[in-house]
Amino acid sequence: MILVAGSANIDFFTPVEHLPAAGETVLGGDYFLAAGGKGANQAVACAKAGGRVAFLGALGQDSFAQTLRESLRQSGVQDWTITAAAPTGAAFIGVAQSGENAITVASGANSRLRSEHLPDLRGVQTLVLQLEIPLETVCAFAAQAKAAGVKVVLNAAPARPLPTELLGQLDHLIVNEGELAALGQAGDLAAQLRAVQALGPQVVTVTLGAQGSLTLDGDKLLDVPAYPVVVRDTTGAGDTFVGVLVAARSEGRNLAEALELASVGAGLACTQSGAQPSMPNRAAIMAAWQSRV
Ligand code: RIB
Repeated sequence: MILVAGSANIDFFTPVEHLPAAGETVLGGDYFLAAGGKGANQAVACAKAGGRVAFLGALGQDSFAQTLRESLRQSGVQDWTITAAAPTGAAFIGVAQSGENAITVASGANSRLRSEHLPDLRGVQTLVLQLEIPLETVCAFAAQAKAAGVKVVLNAAPARPLPTELLGQLDHLIVNEGELAALGQAGDLAAQLRAVQALGPQVVTVTLGAQGSLTLDGDKLLDVPAYPVVVRDTTGAGDTFVGVLVAARSEGRNLAEALELASVGAGLACTQSGAQPSMPNRAAIMAAWQSRV
């Protein structure tokens, strides 16, 4: 069993011609609501790719919480959410014509997830974390999982510096270029990956959008191309990458194959709008993967 612990947000999407600069107002088209939040997204992507997965997060007592629970249920994710005395998390997302986005998250209930909410980890093989819940909670969950012999995967998003104790608890760290830069290491990408690996995680992956991803596993570098698509909306693509990768590893695939599947999944997620609504199912991922090799 895979446990994803992290945020769940209701996403408000607005299409805009370009993303606003500081102090600028831009007019958008019709907005729509969809289930999101990096934690819930990764759990949904993992379940759709065939993983056996539970999601631990904090939701409010409002109708958005019901929408988010329903999306977890429909995707086959076990719902281990708790209810907090705060509004359900919300994300305000502008999507430009290029497919790029800008996101503001109102954390709400996500900020109430605490170390005492981590359940007994018997039966859990892998814990997946991100950074949209309090950092102390992430650190406590990672330490408890490591002590229980559970593999710890951290997607260090959104970008921020990380305590070295946390890096020391990780088996696999996944970042994009901005998140890697926030870790403060010098040199080219490979040098930065090596420097981060020296602080703990055996495997470090940097995702590079249309350039694919670069992974350092021990002393081996794996360069995996992106799956070429016409981009409509990149929201949730990074989460899909993480969810599909973890699902593929949990069914015994080697890292190289799991990274290829993750790349295909992330590419397919860019062809549809929204985070959870854009995530491909196992059949779509396998068909696209088989047609490219
Ligand atoms: O990674 C995409 C997600 O970031 C969105 O679903 C939004 O909720 C924010 O958490």
